[in-house]
Amino acid sequence: MSWVGGKKALRDEILSRFPLYYEKYIEVFGGAGWVLFHKPPGMDFEVWNDYNSNLANLYRCVRDKPNKLKYKLRYVLNSREDFNWIAALHKKGLFGRFRDADRAAKFYQLIRYSYASGLDSFGSQPHSMWADFPQIDMAARRLQKVVIENKDFEGLIRHYDRSVSFFYCDPPYFSTENYYKDVGFKKEDHIRLRDTLLKIKGKFLVSYNDCPEIRKLWDRPGIYIEEISRLNNLAQRYEGGCMYSELFISNYRQTERNALQLSMFDENTGGILNEKSINDAGDD
Ligand SMILES: C[S@@+](CC[C@H](N)C(=O)[O-])C[C@H]1O[C@@H](n2cnc3c(N)ncnc32)[C@H](O)[C@@H]1O
Repeated sequence: MSWVGGKKALRDEILSRFPLYYEKYIEVFGGAGWVLFHKPPGMDFEVWNDYNSNLANLYRCVRDKPNKLKYKLRYVLNSREDFNWIAALHKKGLFGRFRDADRAAKFYQLIRYSYASGLDSFGSQPHSMWADFPQIDMAARRLQKVVIENKDFEGLIRHYDRSVSFFYCDPPYFSTENYYKDVGFKKEDHIRLRDTLLKIKGKFLVSYNDCPEIRKLWDRPGIYIEEISRLNNLAQRYEGGCMYSELFISNYRQTERNALQLSMFDENTGGILNEKSINDAGDD
C-alpha cells in the first residue's frame, strides 16, 4: 500500500545492497514494508518494526486475522463523510479505544481513502476495498513467520543486535520529520540513530535524502556512503527531468552482493557459493 516515504521505487536498489550473509533481518522503520515484501523469504529470522502503533496493529491483524479484517472492510463506504468522521477520531488520538480488527480496518480506510496517504484529507478517488482482499491474503501469507514489533528504534536495535543481525533503516528523511504525526521524529533523533548504529555488532544499511546535514552526520571512519540519483516523478510533471539524490549508508561494502554474482562465473570459484567466495567478495 502507499505510505509517506514508501520505498516502492527504490526497493531493487536497496535489495541489491544487502550484505551477502546474515541470519536475522530487522526492518527498523517498517512503514508499508516495501522492502520486506520485496525481499524473498529465506531461512533468516525476520522482524518488521514501526513506532506507529496503528500501523503495527494493522500488520498484526493482517497476519493473524485476515478474514476478520476483510469482514470489517467489506462494508466500508468510499465516502467523504465517513472519512472525515474517522480522520477526526484519529486526530484526537482515539483509535486505541477500538478493538484490534476495528482499529485496523479504520486505519486502513484512512490510508486507502486519504489524499497521497496523508491520513487527513479525503482523496476522492474511485476505489473498491474488495479489490484489495487478494493482496491482504498474500500479505498474510508472507507475514506468517515475521515478528511484528512496535518499538522506538533505539531499544529495538539494542534488543536484536548480534554479529549475524542486519538492520535496514529507512528513517524519516531530514526535514520531513513532521510528516509522521503519529510518532513525532525529532531532529535530534537523526543523531541518536547514528550513535546507536555506530555501536552495533551487526551490519546496517540506512537510506536517506542527500543533504549536507546527513553527509556531515555520517562522515565517520569505517562508514560507506553511496549516492544514487533518480527522476523526481512529481517535479518532472512541471519541470521535466528534475533529478534528486538519495544516500545509502552502511558499515560494510555495498558491492559485496554484486561482486559475488560476478565471481560465481569466475573459474577459480567454480561457480560454487561457499563461505570463502562470500568472504573474498566482501574484501573486494
Ligand atoms: C520513511 S518511512 C518508512 C517507509 C518504509 N520503508 C516503506 O517502504 O514503506 C519512516 C517510518 O518510520 C516510522 N518511525 C518514526 N519514528 C520512529 C521511531 N522513533 N522508531 C521506529 N519507527 C519510527 C514512521 O512511523 C514511518 O512509518
